[in-house]
Amino acid sequence: MTGGCVVRDAEEADLPQILAIHNHHIAYGFALWRYETETLADRAAWLHDRRKNGYPVIVAADGDEVLGYGGYGAFRFGAGYGRTVENSIYVREDRRRRGVARALMSDLIARAQSEGRHVMVAGIGLPNDASVALHAALGFVDCGLLRQIGWKFDRWLDLRLMQKML
Ligand SMILES: CC(C)(COP(=O)(O)OP(=O)(O)OC[C@H]1O[C@@H](n2cnc3c(N)ncnc32)[C@H](O)[C@@H]1OP(=O)(O)O)[C@@H](O)C(=O)NCCC(=O)NCCS
Repeated sequence: MTGGCVVRDAEEADLPQILAIHNHHIAYGFALWRYETETLADRAAWLHDRRKNGYPVIVAADGDEVLGYGGYGAFRFGAGYGRTVENSIYVREDRRRRGVARALMSDLIARAQSEGRHVMVAGIGLPNDASVALHAALGFVDCGLLRQIGWKFDRWLDLRLMQKML
């Protein structure tokens, strides 16, 4: 138990709560550059795809409540990138600043290390001071800024790249 929660593999039963967090960010946030919310079937397909490809999806849970979720997948296509992963992590708005993301990220980093991954990348859509601070606190270093590569809420969006050597 860390950050008042248990970190474990995501299960099908978690998908409705994962979907609610995910769709909240699509509708209101800068972390996901999508315009259309997803369905439960979309999220189920995503979970199965991650599992099929050997990538983790984890949740931070307090009893039956999903406080946040995260995972990692391929950074870019191609066998040469096989030991690099890109992480993603989302915490419910009413449970932030209580160590939930730190607990999820610590678990993801440990899993990636045990799998022999070499680098974890974070692509952070800006503005997102919380995510930049979170990744810096966990040893990620700044690798640069891709300017105006996204468009959402009637504005261009920048992407900050950070990486951690595992
Ligand atoms: C970024 C996010 C995952 C952080 O989750 P969280 O559970 O609140 O983070 P934690 O409580 O574990 O914080 C761990 C550390 O991150 C940093 N941090 C987290 N939120 C911060 C904030 N709002 N401002 C400054 N630093 C912050 C701090 O260093 C913090 O350590 P501290 O509390 O001891 O100071 C959360 O704000 C979130 O879900 N944001 C929306 C989705 C998102 O942006 N995901 C990342 C996509 S790249």
